[in-house]
Amino acid sequence: MNISIVGPGAIGSLWASYLHDAGHRVCLWSRQNTATLAIQRDDYPSLLLMNNDPQALQQSDIILVTLKAPLVERVLTNIRHHIAPEAVVILMHNGMGTADKIKTLMPENPLVLATTTHGAYRKAANHVLHTGQGKTLLGAANHKAKQCEFLVDVFNHALAEVAWHDEIEHALWNKLAINCAINPLTAIHQIRNGELTRTEFRDQLQSIISEVCRVMQAEGVDAIETNLAVMVDQVIHATSNNFSSMEQDIAHQRASEIDFITGYLLKCANKHKIGVPTNQALFQAIKQIEQRW
Ligand code: PAF
Repeated sequence: MNISIVGPGAIGSLWASYLHDAGHRVCLWSRQNTATLAIQRDDYPSLLLMNNDPQALQQSDIILVTLKAPLVERVLTNIRHHIAPEAVVILMHNGMGTADKIKTLMPENPLVLATTTHGAYRKAANHVLHTGQGKTLLGAANHKAKQCEFLVDVFNHALAEVAWHDEIEHALWNKLAINCAINPLTAIHQIRNGELTRTEFRDQLQSIISEVCRVMQAEGVDAIETNLAVMVDQVIHATSNNFSSMEQDIAHQRASEIDFITGYLLKCANKHKIGVPTNQALFQAIKQIEQRW
């Protein structure tokens, strides 16, 4: 198939490399203004992929968007006239809130949402390390995408394990709960994920999870607080040596994904008139840091 990866950061480069190795024609769309881009995964030889070629984008059957959430709407607004109306658009990023905008922006295209737990680390601009095996879930965000379950075979063949989720929003909410718990705290304190096991964070973590759980239930997601707490704890342990993406954004003075993580939670909480003071305070703390730059 013809597949374009829009925003080849760590996760995008990982998928680009695996999809290429599975025999697909993979092209990139990136902020680098060059006709080709090299991508190396682990110790495998580097691949040279086409970059920013409007014709290649036009011929793509699948557009895998691995941009960070704050960039999705802006970049797709700029390139949508190069995207065929039948091309399947897949959004794969931390946080929630982009799908509604893209549904309106590109009403003809099947829209699929994805979440992945694969670990990827960008060692250098063109070199990605696959640091942890994970699982990828795909699911329909609009009516047309309900026909797209075939994507599971395409993606599974490239990088297992991939499954279709009939309620992808529920899977995204579980990931959002993990990100609400881990990302702001590690970013504010500039610590690795594993340091959240310290007793000083116990009450705060519990309160974040309890607030997220109430909002999830109001949104119709089957959430149980103790299960969410176990899930967060498992991710903290499994990624204990890692710096979260928000920790990295704050450390490098880049705008974070806070509006699409805790910010999305606050919007939903407000809609249901649920108080979420702990998450509100974390949101403000990140905003204050970002405003200092
Ligand atoms: O954003 C991140 O860094 C990751 O989603 C996670 C799971 C919190 C691990 O660091």
